[in-house]
Amino acid sequence: MQTNITSFTLRPLLFATALPVCLALGMALTRSAAAAPADDPLPVPVSINALMVTMIDHSAHHIWDMEAQDRDLSEEEWRTVEYFAIQLAAGGPLVALGGSGSQDTAWAATDQWRSYSQAMSNAAMIAMDAAKNKDKMLLSSAGDALIATCLSCHEQFKPESPTEGILHQPEYDHLYHLFE
Ligand code: HEC
Repeated sequence: MQTNITSFTLRPLLFATALPVCLALGMALTRSAAAAPADDPLPVPVSINALMVTMIDHSAHHIWDMEAQDRDLSEEEWRTVEYFAIQLAAGGPLVALGGSGSQDTAWAATDQWRSYSQAMSNAAMIAMDAAKNKDKMLLSSAGDALIATCLSCHEQFKPESPTEGILHQPEYDHLYHLFE
């Protein structure tokens, strides 16, 4: 009985002490997690060229394929838009880090590269909003904004033929072209 009373009276006290400690620890962890990537980013082990062909191009084509449909999209199709918009939205910051290709680090060090990468991510976020609201008009603006970012970055940075010779792969089309 005595033990019970003690533990009951101690409990609020324990909470009162534990809470600020937990909060401080949580904040410290959050802060170090937020600081780490900027200070010491993990090197991206693949090239921009390879990322473009397998991830960026691939995700964007799914979004454009959905945008091109002259009808309402199904639940499943909106989910597809959302899925690939997430990949592209995260792809922007990833591309901004550069990669293992011979010119990737030099490209990524420029302000223009960073802003095109950001613009691509922003366009993908519009596609995500379109998916959330099932808004075909918004999806169309997202698709236009998206292609503008690809073209403007390519105009400035993409060599005539890619440094590693990896091109848009028609063989991959069955992976991402849902419609002819
Ligand atoms: C921040 C700049 C940047 C953005 C944004 C960008 N690209 Fe690229 N892309 C490049 C560069 C640079 C290369 C060539 C890399 C190399 O040669 O090493 C490339 C290469 C490619 C290639 C392979 C080469 C080819 O011609 O087949 C494809 C496909 C591609 N990009 C598609 C896209 C698509 C689609 C988008 C938009 C959704 C996009 N890219 C957005 C910079 C960018």
